[in-house]
Amino acid sequence: MVRRAACPGSFDPVTHGHLDVIGRAAGLFDEVVVAVGVNPSKSRLFSPDERLDMLGQACATWDNVRVAGFTGLLTDFCRAEGISAIVKGLRAVSDFDYELQMAQMNASLSDVETVFMPTSPEWSFLASSLVKEIAQFGGDVSGLVPDYVHEALVRRFAEQGTTG
Ligand code: PNS
Repeated sequence: MVRRAACPGSFDPVTHGHLDVIGRAAGLFDEVVVAVGVNPSKSRLFSPDERLDMLGQACATWDNVRVAGFTGLLTDFCRAEGISAIVKGLRAVSDFDYELQMAQMNASLSDVETVFMPTSPEWSFLASSLVKEIAQFGGDVSGLVPDYVHEALVRRFAEQGTTG
């Protein structure tokens, strides 16, 4: 039986912290599906296509990882894709409360298990929201995200005229 896991998130944008968890999940499971939440009601810096494209490039290095967008419930996506586990990175205790609630809610909705993976300490301070805030004000985030994500951030804030 193929052991297939999901690494879900909004990935707006993908960071080295996400990739740390995805890469380690790829070492534990036969297949990993990076599940990009594309709920249209949420406003994001990057469109679903842009987020999927950046993740596709970032995950090309692992041959058992693919990227897919989903709308609606994560548990429905997992059922449709034959996914038995959801892998979530935990950066700090502060992540745990909400992640535990989601894990228990998802367990009440389906048979899918949630597996928590401690983020590597190297990336424990990293969050897409902070990356965006720093990039917006002209700070250097080049060490926190892949090069093409860095370029996309600089371009997007220049387009918006909000840098600096
Ligand atoms: O990057 P994020 O914001 O932590 O990602 C959150 C995400 C997309 C994984 C979460 O919001 C989600 O699973 N959304 C799908 C809707 C759903 O299933 N909601 C019930 C959660 S218990």
